[in-house]
Amino acid sequence: MTRPRVAIVMAAGKGTRMRSERPKVLFPVAGRPLLAWVIDAARAAGCQRILVVVGHGAEEVKAAFAGQDDLEFVLQAEQRGTGHAVLQAAPHVSGEATVLVLSGDVPLVRAETLEALARLAEGAAEGAAWGALVAAELEQPGGLGRLLMNGGKLERIVEKADATPEQLAIRLTNTGIYALPAPGLFEILGRLSPKNAQGELYLTDVAGLAIQDGHALAVHCLADPLEGLGINDRVELARVHRLLLDRHLETLMRSGVTVLEPSRTSIEPSVRVGRDTVIHPDVSLFGHTSIGEGCVVHQGTWVRDSQVADRVILEPYTILDQAEVARDCTVGPFARLRPASVLLEGARVGNFVELKKTRLGAGAKASHLTYLGDATVGDDANIGAGVVTCNYDGVRKNETTIGAGAFVGSDTMLVAPVTIGDGATTAAGSTITQNVPAGALAVARERQRNIEGWADRKNKKRGT
Ligand code: UD1
Ligand code: CA
Repeated sequence: MTRPRVAIVMAAGKGTRMRSERPKVLFPVAGRPLLAWVIDAARAAGCQRILVVVGHGAEEVKAAFAGQDDLEFVLQAEQRGTGHAVLQAAPHVSGEATVLVLSGDVPLVRAETLEALARLAEGAAEGAAWGALVAAELEQPGGLGRLLMNGGKLERIVEKADATPEQLAIRLTNTGIYALPAPGLFEILGRLSPKNAQGELYLTDVAGLAIQDGHALAVHCLADPLEGLGINDRVELARVHRLLLDRHLETLMRSGVTVLEPSRTSIEPSVRVGRDTVIHPDVSLFGHTSIGEGCVVHQGTWVRDSQVADRVILEPYTILDQAEVARDCTVGPFARLRPASVLLEGARVGNFVELKKTRLGAGAKASHLTYLGDATVGDDANIGAGVVTCNYDGVRKNETTIGAGAFVGSDTMLVAPVTIGDGATTAAGSTITQNVPAGALAVARERQRNIEGWADRKNKKRGT
């Protein structure tokens, strides 16, 4: 019988170099906390259990993953190093297991890498050994632990703070990802000592001790060293964020999406975009958003959690937040669709138009300077420039209903609750407080008077 796979994710550290109150593992990259990426990889690598070691900001970290019932949280009350972190999980892992030790701050690791690593430690792959770790060959190893090799075999890992100048020149580095067998791992962890430059219990010392015990450790070297990037400050955070976005942009471009200036485009990996859609520069697409086929998303457009169907044009500087746009619509420039805004086929929303909780019927138009809130607009209705639904009476939000084919004249104030019947018209400048029957014309404004000769009389009075 094969040993179960158990992940232990170290996520208790302070992340001092982030210079923040927020726990480091909760910083988002490409729309999700660092830790979420690592947990996903553990899940995809078939770990039966996932133990997350939390400490600094423990409650905040737990809250961020509330409802993910497959996670088990273990407290490391005092952060005394990575070895100490893993040791906290020991009482929760009984019997034999392959333990995948992961760092909460190394988010790009792929499930395939973890799979390959686990197989090495399970004796199921060529070069199998007692345990295995992931290494990366780097031009600039920076603050990472160095792998001391002897005759092609790992001897031990030395931390930067403890390294001699010769050891610092080593370019083979530790990524902080391991597959190690329990209970052997925990037995060795019990023997760690904090006699080092940082006064910590280093997980990395497990390697040296295991090798002294006569065990061998296999080294899985990453083909793409970027996969092992750890995040210790905000410069590294930005780098990894960009990398994740670039990976997704590449996938999109290969699937038939035109991205005119990838380096000026932010599309989170959670966003889907259909083929033959063109994305202009400075576009940001977030969250659970999908864009259909044959759309054009113009410069400066910002979309979150919205569904956009095929052949939609989002003109420059359009904002969509939890909105739904059916096929063949045009929105913007400078339009804002707030939550629960729905446009049916071929509707048009123009510049400086704001919608909230409003449904615009097929072919309906609101082209200029308009606010529609808590409204339902029928098919092919025309909303003139400067129309406002006065939906809030200071206490509650009230609804406006506008019938199919209605013509709401420019500068009409619709004092809700109010209904404009199908095919009805309101005169420009009207303040509508009563329902308008279908087909009627509502005029609700002062009748115009012209006072002849008024200017001359005024000037005479002033003596000019
Ligand atoms: C660690 C490794 C280093 C490796 C690097 C890869 C050690 C001693 N060093 O260094 O060899 O090159 O990762 O990125 O392991 N953590 C805890 N509790 C603690 C301390 C840390 O949970 O008491 C967690 C942190 O939250 C973090 C992870 O462990 O997610 C790594 O800790 P960090 O302090 O960033 O270690 P590095 O200095 O990067
Ligand atoms: Ca780190």
